[in-house]
Amino acid sequence: AVVYLNGERVDYADARVSVEDRGFQFGDGLYEVVRVYGGRFFYLNRHLKRLQKGAEEIYMELDFGLDRLRDVCKKAVVESGFKDASVYIQVTRGVAPRQHAFPEKSSCTWVVIVRQAKPQPDEFYENGVKVITVPDERWTRCNIKTVQLIANCIAKEKAKRAGAYEAVFHRGGIVTEGSSSNLFIVKDRKLFTHPANNLILHGITRSVVLEIAEKLGFDVVEEAFSLDRLFDADEAFVTGTMTEVMPIVKVDGKMIGDGVPGEMTRDIMREFRKLTE
Ligand code: PDD
Repeated sequence: AVVYLNGERVDYADARVSVEDRGFQFGDGLYEVVRVYGGRFFYLNRHLKRLQKGAEEIYMELDFGLDRLRDVCKKAVVESGFKDASVYIQVTRGVAPRQHAFPEKSSCTWVVIVRQAKPQPDEFYENGVKVITVPDERWTRCNIKTVQLIANCIAKEKAKRAGAYEAVFHRGGIVTEGSSSNLFIVKDRKLFTHPANNLILHGITRSVVLEIAEKLGFDVVEEAFSLDRLFDADEAFVTGTMTEVMPIVKVDGKMIGDGVPGEMTRDIMREFRKLTE
């Protein structure tokens, strides 16, 4: 892996942060995962914009500058030599003696880690995957991509233990999103997904899929829907930077549609693939 810490290239073993970093102590930080295909960033600017918005939401000043972060990301990918890479960006409020209220003086800790991308197995995309549903036990500002991911981690662990690809959250019977993905369903040739409000992450892949759907002339409904609607869907899929567009064929052991990736899902997958080529 190629690692940049606060703008400087460092050896992996030397890439360390303080025990009093607020990211470590409070989860007081933000992150992004960006994909590189064939040496080209996939919507890097959308990720940086989301990071900037998140920083504003938590009163954190990105004191190093977004342009510098963009330059470091590009440099790190070139230096890695990886044509297909995942770029992990993390920014925290920095180091200060432990006190909940924000420190008056601290400078951001910011990290860029480039790794070779590990795509999901082809058969997942060909045959579809299973998901489980779990209660959404997160806070109510899920639009902020904070590093406080324990609820997401617990959900993903439950999925893993159930032999499922993903855990889909529901809050009071309303389906929100996956533990690290957004969820779409198809019913009667219409595409449904949770509105981009405070209860979900406004996924970059989600936004790209909405653009694809529009291009394909699909009817899109950004409206909250219940668990029953999910079970009753004709098709379903999740989206995410590393997940891409992943068809779902089973929810809590119940078959979706014909138990194979749906037609509209496959249309969207094909268009998505084109954008990555
Ligand atoms: N996860 N919802 C949640 C809760 C997520 O954590 C993610 C991304 C998404 C999809 O967002 P995007 O399309 O911008 O990747 C939706 C990242 C990849 C992760 O935690 O690794």
